[in-house]
Amino acid sequence: MQKLHAAVTAVGGYVPEFRLTNFELEKMVDTNDEWIRTRTGIEERRILKEEGKGSSDLGAPAVLEICRKRGISPEEIECIICATVTPDMVFPATANVISDKIGAKNAFSFDLGAACSGFLYALSVGSAFIESGRYSKVVVVGVDKMSSIIDYSDRTTCIIFGDGAGAVLLEPNTEGYGIQDSILKSDGNGRQYLHMKAGGSVKPSTVESVLAREHYVYQEGQAVFKFAVKGMADVSYELMQRNNLSADDIAWLVPHQANLRIIDATANRMGLPKEKVMINIQKFGNTTAGTLPLCLWEWENQLKKGDNLILAAFGGGFTWGATWLKWAYNSQ
Ligand code: UT7
Repeated sequence: MQKLHAAVTAVGGYVPEFRLTNFELEKMVDTNDEWIRTRTGIEERRILKEEGKGSSDLGAPAVLEICRKRGISPEEIECIICATVTPDMVFPATANVISDKIGAKNAFSFDLGAACSGFLYALSVGSAFIESGRYSKVVVVGVDKMSSIIDYSDRTTCIIFGDGAGAVLLEPNTEGYGIQDSILKSDGNGRQYLHMKAGGSVKPSTVESVLAREHYVYQEGQAVFKFAVKGMADVSYELMQRNNLSADDIAWLVPHQANLRIIDATANRMGLPKEKVMINIQKFGNTTAGTLPLCLWEWENQLKKGDNLILAAFGGGFTWGATWLKWAYNSQ
């Protein structure tokens, strides 16, 4: 029997309506549009404003779009894995809430936290379920409502992040399409440069922790930048080398959207021209676990059966990795 691969068979996405532009941020902190554009590539980001709404409200419509496109009922989904660092609540899992909201009554569901590499990690876990032969419809969601953990008086972080969700359906494929290979890495020592100080078991929430503004993203940008440039480029190149892939073989690089300069460095290392790189950071900023599936969502119509895609990410943990995906269908 031919090897089972986990193929992406549908893509969904969702971003909230509200656009927080660089010009709006100029009124909130000491920054300017030119600095943000030249240092990051970002022009605006989407923010989920409505009170009482969380990551599940971004993820649920993305999964429903998958069901609509693939012509399946949510009850046919067997498993939902949600990659997020901004769950609706500490528990239960946001994946459980998404299942409930969309009526995926037969799915078991759980969250996976690997920050900006969360979608890549979840894709690997989901594909292993498919490759085992035990499941045939696994949904992987990448979602973050970063605005819920961003300090809008800190100009070094508030300019970067946005809210958004993307999702893919994984199904078995015996014709060689789907996920071919993946390299995932992590180094917990990197936590010193990127973390949230309070709200976990080490430092539970207190009045003092709130007053000290410790429930927001803490990032030492320059240090993270250096590790990210090296980590994302190295792992993408390593994946190409070990699979004998040349730049000509690759149709698209699907990079995490943290900083345009990190994306450029990765593409250069791989020898890829800009035309082969998915970039939407200018519109959405860094949506953490949402960036990769949001790229697939936006580019879906341009993807052709057999296209080789390299997905690459770097983020908090540190976590990083790259995945080689052979696209399984023509969208148009
Ligand atoms: O996705 C998760 C992983 N995260 C990342 O990959 C993010 C990686 N880091 C970065 O993308 C960049 O480090 C940042 C975009 C966060 C910062 O860019 P940078 O080029 O590394 O800037 P910097 O921190 O070296 O700061 C340069 C200058 C400083 O001023 P002085 O000391 O040179 O006078 C900062 O105070 O820019 C200043 N600065 C700003 N100026 C205007 C910092 N933030 C701002 C701002 N507006 N928003």
